[in-house]
This record gives sequence, structure tokens and C-alpha cells, in this order.
Amino acid sequence: MSTVIEDVIARKIFNSRGEETIEVDVITAGGFGRASAPSGASRGKAEATPYPKGGIEEAIRKVEQVIAPEIIGLNADSQEEIDSLLHSLDGTENFNNIGGNTAFAVSLAVADAAANTYGLPLFQYLGGFYAKVLPYPLGNVLSGGKHTAGKGPEIQEFLSLPLGAPSFLEAQRANATVHEKVRKLLEKKDKTFTGGKSDEGAWTCALSNDEALEIVYEACEETSKELGFECRVGLDVAASTFWNARKKRYVYRDKALDSNEQLEYILELIKNYKLAYVEDPFREEDFEKFAELTKKAKNCLICGDDLFVTNLKRLQKGIKLGAANTIIIKVNQIGTLTDAWETIRAAKAAGYTPVISHRSGDTVDSHIAHLAVGLGCPIIKTGVVEGARIAKLNELIRIEEMLADRALMAQLKV
Ligand code: PGA
Ligand code: ZN
Repeated sequence: MSTVIEDVIARKIFNSRGEETIEVDVITAGGFGRASAPSGASRGKAEATPYPKGGIEEAIRKVEQVIAPEIIGLNADSQEEIDSLLHSLDGTENFNNIGGNTAFAVSLAVADAAANTYGLPLFQYLGGFYAKVLPYPLGNVLSGGKHTAGKGPEIQEFLSLPLGAPSFLEAQRANATVHEKVRKLLEKKDKTFTGGKSDEGAWTCALSNDEALEIVYEACEETSKELGFECRVGLDVAASTFWNARKKRYVYRDKALDSNEQLEYILELIKNYKLAYVEDPFREEDFEKFAELTKKAKNCLICGDDLFVTNLKRLQKGIKLGAANTIIIKVNQIGTLTDAWETIRAAKAAGYTPVISHRSGDTVDSHIAHLAVGLGCPIIKTGVVEGARIAKLNELIRIEEMLADRALMAQLKV
């Protein structure tokens, strides 16, 4: 059962968008680990740099010639030591030299190899015996913004959150039901609808934000009635993507709102559609407006993605200002598992809900399912359908089965 690392191999593979990405294998004396990096389309400005100058080829060269010689011989269960080594080999704040995606793939492959060597599923290796709490899936059912061709709503994601589900399996069934109902409603309400889907497997349409929201709300309400538990609507506004810095306005097809008007608009949506979750309602530097919304919004998770980029320092600033009560965790925004884990711990200590998340360009790598349970994230954000999303959701169904009677759903008060 030796966890000594004997070899590290990097290769180029493809993600769900058909873009190239990096995959890393870590071979120990007694086991094997593998991880591949996801990639964002609406990336936060403060995220780790995904690849070094020279792109993936250079990232692969760095793994094999710079990182591998340093970590071969170390134990794969020395996660913190290896992650800190990745930082010192890079030498910059934002992984400019080796790339955040490179660090991510090495860091996760190391954890995967350690778990495999011990003969444990990753969630149990990370979280121990008490890692038995399943997250609620926050599922993207309708897309707009940067994830589409730009003829639909400016808001990037319309999401379903089956808060009342008694099990993960039932929760995913609810999201699949909402997804299907949204299709039927779009067929009726959008004459141009041809069944198109976004990168994340959510439907695309030519409707406005309010029309799209009406449809998703109706689908969630119907699903709640049919399945007998609460299913609420969430939004990822991704407001930085339609903020016009020169005009100082959020530019929609039919209106251009200043920050105060945007605040009023979001509050109205929360009230009218009983929103349970709103992500990035303002541009990524506007901590103050986030704080105003967090103070005023009732029964709604206010979440920072581009705002925090899984970065502990940005989260600490947010905590001080009361900027949110929820944070998106994307490990490759920050680079290593240890960094993400520190951010999750700080978030929980401050009463923030950590939401572990996929990225719009993703692979069938299902580690985030294990991170949700192993690191205690009460929500996992993915699509509802599409291979890279289903891989993660199905892994959670297997984890739930593995835990059997011990499995619990997360405690989530919204
Ligand atoms: P991504 O965006 O394209 O950066 O993965 C997803 C999100 O904003 O949550
Ligand atoms: Zn987001």
C-alpha cells in the first residue's frame, strides 16, 4: 500500500466543447490516479491563468520536465506538501508560469492516486467516515449570455434547485423533470425554438430574461406539485459579461440599468419568482452592491463566482463587507485542492454556503462529486443533462448507494 509516486504522465485530451485540455496520470507504487482540467467561457478576471505561455504543449512539458522530477519519490498522501511545491515551482500569485489548469490536474491526480492506493473512494479518503452528506444538485435548464450564440436572454443560467428532495436520486429526477418541462414550454412559447442546447446541456431560446424566467418558474412549480417537494429557481446572472464600463450600465436588449436599477431589478426577480439562488448579479468588482443586495434579499442565497474566483483573499474581503452568503468553488480558478479546501473552510466558518461547480467546458472527470461529499459542500452546480454533467451526477448516485442507510441530504435553509 505504498503511496510513493513513481511516475507522472501528462497528455492532451478534449473537453465537452471540443477544446484541448490537459490530463495527468499519477502512478504510485500501489495505485493510480487521473484528473483532467475543465475550462470556463465566462471566466473571472482574477482567476488563475489556465496555461503557461506556449499553451497546453508547454503545460505538458512543464509537468514532465519540471513538476514530475520534483514529486516523484514523494508520497501521494502529502497533498499539502505537493500543492505547496506546485506554488513554489510556479513562483507567481496566479500560476502564470505553470498554469492553473496544469496545477489543478496534477493536484487532483495526486489526491486520486492516494485514494486509489488506500483502496478508498476519493470522498472517503478526503472526508473520512463522517463524509456521508449528499449535496443538492443546482441544475442549469436554460441558457443565455456567453454560453449561447447571443440571441437569447442576457442572464447566463436559469437553474433548478430541488431543495425539498429526500435523496440525491430524487433531486436529480426533479431537475431532469424540470429540464423536460422547460423544453415543452419553449416549444409552445418560442416560435424559433429548434431544440438547441448550450455547452452545459441547457436549452437555448430567443426569449427575453423575464419570459425565460416565467417558463422555468412554471416548470419548477409543476415539478414541485408532481413530486411533492419544493423545487425552486436560481439564476447565474454573470453580470460582468453584459456590463458596459463606458456607459456604466448593465445592457439588456430592451433596457440599460445603472447599478441601483440593477439592484432593484434583481430584488424584484427574487420576490416575483421566489428565487432561492442568485449568482454574480453585479460586475465582478462591485463588492459594495453585492453587500447591499445580501442585506436586502430575503430567503435567497446570494453567491459570488467571478466575484470570489475561489480565492481566499477575495472571499475574506467579501466576508468583511458582507458581500454574499454563498460562494462558488471551482478548483481550477485557484489551482490546487489545498487552496480550494482552505477557501471552503473559511467560507463555512463565516456562514457562507460553498457550492462546488463544474465549468462550461468540462470532461467526464467526476472528482467534483467526491469533493462535494468529501469536503462538505451542500450544493453541486452542474448541468442536468450532457455527458460531462451526467458523469458527475451519476457518480453522486453511486456514492449515495455506497453510503446506503448512512447517507443524509445536506441541511440547507433558504
Ligand atoms: P464558465 O461559467 O463558462 O466560466 O464555466 C460558468 C459560470 O459562470 O458559473
Ligand atoms: Zn457563474
